[in-house]
Amino acid sequence: MLIRKEEAKDYEIVCSVVKSAFDSAEHTDGNEHNLVKALREGKAYIPELSLVAEINGKIAGHIMFTQAEVINNAVLALAPLSVLPEYQRKGIGAALIKEGHKIAKRLGYGYSVVLGSEKYYSKFGYLPAAIYGIKPPFDVPGKNFMAYKINETAPDIHGIIRYAKEFGID
Ligand SMILES: CC(C)(COP(=O)(O)OP(=O)(O)OC[C@H]1O[C@@H](n2cnc3c(N)ncnc32)[C@H](O)[C@@H]1OP(=O)(O)O)[C@@H](O)C(=O)NCCC(=O)NCCS
Repeated sequence: MLIRKEEAKDYEIVCSVVKSAFDSAEHTDGNEHNLVKALREGKAYIPELSLVAEINGKIAGHIMFTQAEVINNAVLALAPLSVLPEYQRKGIGAALIKEGHKIAKRLGYGYSVVLGSEKYYSKFGYLPAAIYGIKPPFDVPGKNFMAYKINETAPDIHGIIRYAKEFGID
């Protein structure tokens, strides 16, 4: 498996990977592929943190972390994460998350925030974000709004997260 930065030549394939992954997802608005496109064109886009997973030259997974803010602290929002149905449960999602965390640490980010399954993301060190003082801008069960401390020395940050405007949250 090769995890690498997404390039412009990958955009079309990535769009279909995201679409197929979420076609069979438990929680979806059917719009995740358009969100990826919009995020790429927005201010919160971090090219180093839009990654693809290749298996024998074929893109089987994609992850995107974009910049968000808690008061005046830059944090990351992990969304979306997509693995082609026929490639799921083979460690691709795990590899994308871990590589993303490594790059995020090098880039100096303190936290990554995700909204998702507590059973899945807890495998990668995500805890309820409330532990770090990070609050969601919407109503959601506390267990599903999680954060990962990328840098051990990152201080607690108290406040509501502001996502990139492309998420259409505020
Ligand atoms: C969720 C998703 C990204 C997981 O990717 P994946 O490559 O299948 O996951 P991995 O193989 O890396 O799984 C890592 C671990 O999580 C477990 N796992 C996989 N999917 C899981 C799920 N939906 N719920 C709980 N645990 C899960 C695996 O069994 C594995 O556990 P192990 O390390 O103890 O063996 C993939 O199923 C997907 O694209 N789903 C549709 C889109 C979606 O829901 N994205 C997440 C939005 S928040």
